[in-house]
Order: sequence, then C-alpha cells, then structure tokens
Amino acid sequence: MAYFFLIFLLPLAMASGAHLRPGYYLETCPKAEFIVRDVMKKALIREPRSLASVMRFQFHDCFVDGCDASMLLDDAPNMLGEKLALANINSLRSYEVIDEAKEAVEKACPGVVSCADILIMAARDAVALTGGPDWQVKLGRLDSLSANQELSNDIMPSPRSNASYLIDLFKKYDLSIKDLVALSGSHSIGQGRCFSIMFRLYNQSGTGKPDPEIEPKFREELNKLCPVNVDQNVTVDLDATPRIFDNQYFKDLVSGRGFLNSDQTLFTFEKTKPFVKKFSGDQKRFFEAFVEGMIKMGDLQSGKPGEIRRNCRVANRRPLEKLREY
Ligand code: HEM
Ligand SMILES: *[C@@H]1O[C@H](CO)[C@@H](O)[C@H](O)[C@H]1NC(C)=O
Ligand SMILES: *[C@@H]1O[C@H](CO)[C@@H](O)[C@H](O)[C@H]1NC(C)=O
Ligand SMILES: *[C@@H]1O[C@H](CO)[C@@H](O)[C@H](O)[C@H]1NC(C)=O
Repeated sequence: MAYFFLIFLLPLAMASGAHLRPGYYLETCPKAEFIVRDVMKKALIREPRSLASVMRFQFHDCFVDGCDASMLLDDAPNMLGEKLALANINSLRSYEVIDEAKEAVEKACPGVVSCADILIMAARDAVALTGGPDWQVKLGRLDSLSANQELSNDIMPSPRSNASYLIDLFKKYDLSIKDLVALSGSHSIGQGRCFSIMFRLYNQSGTGKPDPEIEPKFREELNKLCPVNVDQNVTVDLDATPRIFDNQYFKDLVSGRGFLNSDQTLFTFEKTKPFVKKFSGDQKRFFEAFVEGMIKMGDLQSGKPGEIRRNCRVANRRPLEKLREY
C-alpha cells in the first residue's frame, strides 16, 4: 500500500504556530469573528449537515502542508487542486459556506483576513453551534500560493485505517493518542457515504465476511441502508445524534456501533480504548481534550510563503518557483 510506506518518508517539517494568537484581527478587522459566526448560523438553518462538512475542512487542510487553505483552491491550468484528492473527491462538500463567509468578511475589511483563518473560525463555530464547546482560536495564518493533490493522496487516512496506523500518522504531527481519539470525536456530527463502509459490511480484510466488531443489530441496520448494490454515494449518520456535538459517538463505539472502521478500531485497540471509555462516560473531559486537539492541529504551519487571498478558490499570485519560468 502506497500510503503505508509513505508515512515513514513524509517530510512533515512543520513550523509551529508560534506567531499565531487570539485577537489577531482586533485592530484590522474587529468584526471578522462575528461575521463568520453569523454566516455559520445561517448555514445551520439552511442545511444542518453543512456545519459538519465545514468542520471537517480543518482536518483536511491542516494535515496537508499546514493550515493554509490549500484545500480550498480549485484546479488551475498548472495545478491540480486537493478537491479531487482521494479522500476528498465526492466527499468534501459545502465549500460555498466558506465562500460566503469570505465574501462577507471582504466586504467589511478587504484584503485583511486569510481564508486559512476563516476556515479555523468556521470549524470552531460549527462545533459551538451544534452543542459542543466554544473556544478562542489563534489567528494570523496566511493562504498558500498552491495546492498539493499528491501530498493529500499520500497523507489523508482511509476509512479502513486501524488505530495503530492512525496513532503513527498523528504522531508525525505531534498529536498524541489522546488527541487522535478526541479529534475522532468530530464524527459526533455529520454523515459518511456507503462507499466508506462497503468493505466493512461485506468483505472486511478480504475475508468475504463483515467486520466482526459491528454489533449484529447495527449491522442489520447498515445492511439495509447500504445493500450490496446501493448507490455508494448514499449517506448515513456517523453517530446516533448526527446534528448534536456530544459524546454519543464514544457511547456508540463502546456498543459496537461505530460507522467507520477507523472509528470502531479506536475501541478495539488497547492503546486507544481507555480514552474511548473515558470520553464515553465524561463529556466534559471529551470537550476539553477536543479543544486542545483542535488548537494543536490549528498550529500546524508549513513555513512556506503565503498571502491573503481575495477569493478562497484562487491564488492572487503564482508561487515563486513558477514565476521564474517566465
Ligand atoms: C482519524 C482519522 C480520520 C479518518 C480516517 C476520517 C475519515 C472520514 C471519512 C471516511 C468520512 C466520511 C467521508 C465519506 O464517506 O464521504 C469522514 C467524515 C467526517 N470527518 Fe473524518 N476522519 C478522521 C478524522 C477526522 C478529524 C480529525 C476531523 C475533524 C476534526 C474529522 C471530521 C469529519 C466530519 C465532521 C465528517 C462528516 C462530514 C460531513 O457530514 O460532510 N474527521 N471522516
Ligand atoms: C494496521 O494497518 C497497517 C497498515 O494498513 C497494517 O500494516 C497493520 O498490519 C495493521 N495492524 C493490525 C494490528 O491490524
Ligand atoms: C474480497 O476481497 C478480496 C481481497 O481484496 C477479493 O479477492 C475478493 O474477490 C473479495 N470478495 C468479494 C465477495 O468481493
Ligand atoms: C458518486 O457521484 C459522483 C458524481 O455524480 C460520481 O462521479 C461517482 O462515481 C459516484 N460514486 C460512487 C461510489 O458511486
């Protein structure tokens, strides 16, 4: 498997987010955070799931060359964007919510607030507005000049991943086992496609059988929602309360009702199991650990040159190495 050995080679020389701080826009765009939250409130009314979809952006952005909104760039003549990367294609959605937030922020203070920061604010707002914790985000990020589809392909984990693979992956980003389990609790909101669990339901590890860790009644439900010939774009809730950010996700894992293999494996592996148990019985501890994990993940920075994009989908200027081609 390509991604199996790449994990040892990836140059994850991430600068820390030492220059990031709360209140970064207090002087230059004091209303930025209010404006973004307002857009998220409207999104919640329009389509509740879109909050989960936007929150997921933070993970898919920050793990690929740091939190720099590289993920938001559309394909360009000389660059494949990350939107069509393996983990993102037909899966990431609700880009228009970020567009809307950017437009509103640009109206108030043109050219000041980065898309990368808007994405971090929006992820926090998604959690806060669905019943989860609220917290201060650090700001001051720049937007990347390019995207890296190949890097996204190599890094972003498959739903088939097991906990030991995920522990190693998160460790590359200085994220602990506790961070991994807490951040996986983001699957407390939102949905996934049948595509992501077909192997689990019908052919786990090529055995021709379902994953034995799925609780039998739950498996019956999933078999009905995702029968063998289903349109694999059909979506299913990630936990029993998909619109509420709570610790139900961990209760579900304890009872064998995790949706993804990567979810359920957190309960079957010895190193991650104690955290699943703890969070399933103590929502406050989950919330605290989740906030800590989101802040750590939000600190990931590539150290590459950046800019404040005018439009989150398009770089204002071309990267230096490309400019030299002229
Ligand atoms: C630990 C490794 C992780 C894996 C393997 C993973 C994988 C997945 C997969 C396969 C889906 C469903 C996609 C689909 O079927 O189209 C999903 C959905 C989601 N993921 Fe993760 N994920 C992980 C961690 C995270 C993290 C760290 C976050 C955010 C902090 C996150 C947030 C979400 C959200 C909110 C959704 C639902 C999105 C929606 O409803 O549109 N995930 N994830
Ligand atoms: C976990 O996944 C990795 C990578 O796919 C694999 O090499 C390893 O054997 C798996 N570990 C267990 C205990 O299943
Ligand atoms: C299950 O997966 C194995 C290995 O990938 C494959 O050889 C086999 O044909 C699959 N079986 C079914 C029923 O799809
Ligand atoms: C899901 O829908 C997209 C867009 O219509 C299509 O290209 C893709 O093949 C579908 N995926 C699956 C797994 O059916």
